[in-house]
Amino acid sequence: MESGVDRRVRVFSSLATLSSGAARHVAERARDAVAARGRFTWVLAGGHTPEGLYRKLAERYQTDFPWRESEVFFGDERCVPAGSPLSNYSMARDALLRHVPIPAGRVHRLRGEVRPPSEAAATYRRLLDRLALRGDGTGVRFDLVVLGIGPDGHTASLFPGSSALRERQRTVVALRRSGQPPWVPRLTLTLPAFASSREVLFLVAGEEKADVVARVLRARPPGNPNLPASRIRSAGSVRWFLNRSAASHLSKGLLSS
Ligand code: 6PG
Repeated sequence: MESGVDRRVRVFSSLATLSSGAARHVAERARDAVAARGRFTWVLAGGHTPEGLYRKLAERYQTDFPWRESEVFFGDERCVPAGSPLSNYSMARDALLRHVPIPAGRVHRLRGEVRPPSEAAATYRRLLDRLALRGDGTGVRFDLVVLGIGPDGHTASLFPGSSALRERQRTVVALRRSGQPPWVPRLTLTLPAFASSREVLFLVAGEEKADVVARVLRARPPGNPNLPASRIRSAGSVRWFLNRSAASHLSKGLLSS
């Protein structure tokens, strides 16, 4: 364990086993959170990798998961019309949310269709502030944040060199430009929003991510400004679930953590 970052790495043989392992892990976290605090606050990731997790949860965890006590948020969103196939919300809705008994009022999407996007970011900030008042009063505190990583080291919509990485106060911001396709403006939660979480879980698959995963896991606190994923902190642990190819550039020392 490094000072300030409790990092744990698990390697799975394939994306399918990674998705099953992640589904088991999320279900355990959800049951534990509800037993301890009566609700499970969960931030979903966009991109393609978590789709397997969402589908596994929809298939295998209709029961044995506290859906009615779950509250769902999003780590980032592309500024596209509602229902666009590019929207992170649409992917999560189709793979998971429409198949499980989670109350509609507990799914909080970032409104990518709102113009200007800064309005949508301000609305989400107010929502997070309000919900924090219902919690323990110490600010936004998510039980679990799921994230992915791009080959350039971005995570959520925090891209290398972006001014969003310097945000210290606001929990959600809008970005005019994306650092990666799709080239549309973005809404993203910020480093301080993620840092107040109880746990962060990165899901990463594919050979094209092997190099960046090794660089992020080698980075020492406070992380490398050119590798946004290395700046992610949590009040608890930061876990990495990797498939074998994404883990292929890791040294033995990192794998045993
Ligand atoms: C997005 C993201 C982004 C994503 C990574 C990994 O909206 O694009 O939230 O940060 O998680 O780019 O994406 P893949 O899982 O598709 O590789």
